[in-house]
Amino acid sequence: MQKWADEMRARGQSIGFVPTMGFLHEGHLSLMKRGREVANLLVVSIFVNPAQFGPGEDFEDYPRALEKDLALLEDLGADVVFTPKEEEVYPEGYETYVRQENLPNHLCGLSRPVFFTGVATVVAKLFHIVKPHVAVFGEKDYQQLAVIRKMVRDLNFDIEILGGPTVREPDGLAMSSRNAYLRPDQRSSALALIESLHLVRDLVKKGETDAGKLLDIAREHILAKKETLIDYVSICDPESLVDVENVSGKVLMALAVKVGKTRLIDNMILTPSKKE
Ligand code: PAF
Repeated sequence: MQKWADEMRARGQSIGFVPTMGFLHEGHLSLMKRGREVANLLVVSIFVNPAQFGPGEDFEDYPRALEKDLALLEDLGADVVFTPKEEEVYPEGYETYVRQENLPNHLCGLSRPVFFTGVATVVAKLFHIVKPHVAVFGEKDYQQLAVIRKMVRDLNFDIEILGGPTVREPDGLAMSSRNAYLRPDQRSSALALIESLHLVRDLVKKGETDAGKLLDIAREHILAKKETLIDYVSICDPESLVDVENVSGKVLMALAVKVGKTRLIDNMILTPSKKE
């Protein structure tokens, strides 16, 4: 992979990169289309990264469909699909990790304490191996994108990071490989995420600024659905991810909800209406 990247770079080609854990859906494909637009060559990696799963999480069960993914990537015209083995990424004796001080202490990082160290570590390694000029990540994983942007700045990676908008099912559910876990009867509960985002967005547009009140309304809506368990619902600063009390400017609303055993996340940027 590194040799290929060196050769392409020497020929003046630009490399676009989309790292994935496979089980590809329209959301991934939209990131790849973006990657294709901004670079001459597209590399996609498929690697279910054990370092970002905590004990008791779904590493073993994470959906995998390599043959189907490869066929999709062939149709899409990816130039290279990089599918390293676990022992190649983390050979015996591996002991170097990228850990951030602040961003992981919010939102998903609170209930998934190893997640962002695992993500930052594997993405740093993939960047060194794939040597891209541009890499594209989904905005559905807002905090992941923030962590990666920060890592790239802090560690001087010479890589442009682009975010791709969340792609949704026709009913509004954000596309995710984990949607495959949902039973048909759990689908309407899964819609609690986008519904509560819309509910709060509309109230903010009407002038409600009390984050506590807005969060109560969102929580009530989510908990009224069957089999839902809230991990977090937050209205926070879109840069620092620190909770805000008042919606006085642009904020991020982000949430993680378990529907049965399936943990789903979603988010939206909210902008208050301008005061006359
Ligand atoms: O978003 C994902 O699929 C993963 O977290 C990533 C970025 C491929 C790292 O394993």
